[in-house]
Amino acid sequence: MSNRTFAIIKPDAVRNGYLGQIIDRIIQAEFVILGAKLIRMTREQAEGFYAIHRGKPFYEELTRFMSSGKCMVLALEKENAVAAWRKTIGATNPADAAPGTIRKDFASSLGENAVHGSDSDPNAEQEIAFFFSESELIAAK
Ligand code: CMP
Repeated sequence: MSNRTFAIIKPDAVRNGYLGQIIDRIIQAEFVILGAKLIRMTREQAEGFYAIHRGKPFYEELTRFMSSGKCMVLALEKENAVAAWRKTIGATNPADAAPGTIRKDFASSLGENAVHGSDSDPNAEQEIAFFFSESELIAAK
């Protein structure tokens, strides 16, 4: 069954000129792009999106970085989308990411790790709803 996940192509990847290559990886991995927006998050949006990490030592740096420049937010569809996207992007820390993954090829550090991926189906739906209304998402068929 097809389901959905949420992705961000983060400010470091956009700044470094990797936006097109990462979109190409998404297409090559046969995700359907239901929605995509190039945005610059406000600090408040970044704090809201990453509210689950509030209080952690990296929260300040994370929300400053995520609001530091343009990023692309995407709603993706594929069978087992959450697991499939996490496999495509690789481990959170690029130093641990498998060869051929997006983070291995395009990320420089744990903090600036090129892309985000939801970690569960409920979080995917919540994260998609943070940036998209349902009417903005194009049906797969
Ligand atoms: P992401 O998948 O976007 O979810 C939270 C982000 O926090 C994570 O990717 C990392 O880029 C960032 N981060 C920074 N430091 C840490 C850390 N010590 N542990 C986990 N995530 C971290």
